[in-house]
Amino acid sequence: MTPLLNKRCVINSFSRNFSEATTIDHVEVSEPTAQQILVKHRYIGINAVYDRELYSGAVPYINVAFPFVFGVEAVGIVTAVGDEVSRFQIGDAVGTVKVGTAYQEYQLVAEADAIAFPEASAEYLTLSPTGVSAVLAIEKQAELSAGETVVISAAAGGLGHILAQLCHRKGCHVVAICGGAQKAEMLKRLSCCDRIIDYHSESVAEVLAAEYAGGIDVAFDSVGRSMFDTMLSQLADRGRLVVIGVASELADEQFERVTQPRVYESIYWKGASVRCFMNHLYKDDHQAARDQLFSLYQEGQLQVKVDQTSFVGIESIAAASKYLLEGKSCGKVIVDLSNC
Ligand SMILES: NC(=O)c1ccc[n+]([C@@H]2O[C@H](COP(=O)([O-])OP(=O)(O)OC[C@H]3O[C@@H](n4cnc5c(N)ncnc54)[C@H](OP(=O)(O)O)[C@@H]3O)[C@@H](O)[C@H]2O)c1
Repeated sequence: MTPLLNKRCVINSFSRNFSEATTIDHVEVSEPTAQQILVKHRYIGINAVYDRELYSGAVPYINVAFPFVFGVEAVGIVTAVGDEVSRFQIGDAVGTVKVGTAYQEYQLVAEADAIAFPEASAEYLTLSPTGVSAVLAIEKQAELSAGETVVISAAAGGLGHILAQLCHRKGCHVVAICGGAQKAEMLKRLSCCDRIIDYHSESVAEVLAAEYAGGIDVAFDSVGRSMFDTMLSQLADRGRLVVIGVASELADEQFERVTQPRVYESIYWKGASVRCFMNHLYKDDHQAARDQLFSLYQEGQLQVKVDQTSFVGIESIAAASKYLLEGKSCGKVIVDLSNC
């Protein structure tokens, strides 16, 4: 019988350039061991900002041994099960969330690490883990209360559009920041934003100073640099600035060096704070967050936006990453492997 081949996108050397760092290879697919399942991927989620840190060799908690399959999240269908597997059978939809597993066509997964999904769709993949980060950033860091004013950067992104809807559901006044008319239109259609700031046509600093001076209770920032500075300067008394990402810092080889008073100068008298969120530090809370999101989605109370640009096959991971790094994405960027 012809062996089943697994096409993979792997890191083979460290470089900040995707095409220098990675190659595509083929390896034979093994049979699952007693406690494993074999999953054929249908969709994989692209996390280009994180990936670039990984293939640059800059993620301190991951040991990247070459060749290293990268990518974090995937959803697919079980095609084989080990003898001792009890929770899954062939044909089941399964999601996986683990650094170093997603950018390939097949994956052997320990039963304990496999997540039962209602279906193998791009929408459920967006909810886990991107949506999970939104839930946990709110619950673990923001201490959000109804009636508070919340500002969100990259609000039309995979993370941002879910964050905006969840904050609205909590009864907050939501200010959503995005770059471009298409993104602003998408946010408008979600009906969860009280103010949308498209920084291609308005200055974020001017709008926040004019309309929300000193009145931001919670800011979620995934961009950094001047976005962070602007949000920090407009925090309310007891305001919380939650750093979820630093995309603009990571676009350069090192963090920008700034010479100015320490951060507490601007927040001490307000009793305000800067907090950082990191998804993998809340593993014990992932399942509860997923359950919450899946229920909201199934009840029609949460919209999930997947970017409509088509990326098909392992070869298209490079193009999907480039697209995301250029700031073009609207919703979650996904690569489709369903016909591969
Ligand atoms: N800490 C955690 O545990 C955690 C978990 C999930 C995600 N994140 C981070 O959160 C951010 C959003 O993640 P996502 O997966 O939902 O992706 P995403 O929202 O699609 O992020 C891309 C968006 O960020 C904005 N952006 C601004 N400057 C950018 C730059 N230099 N490079 C790329 N994008 C830039 C752009 O939107 P605008 O044009 O609208 O500004 C772009 O469309 C990423 O930085 C990611 O690393 C962190």
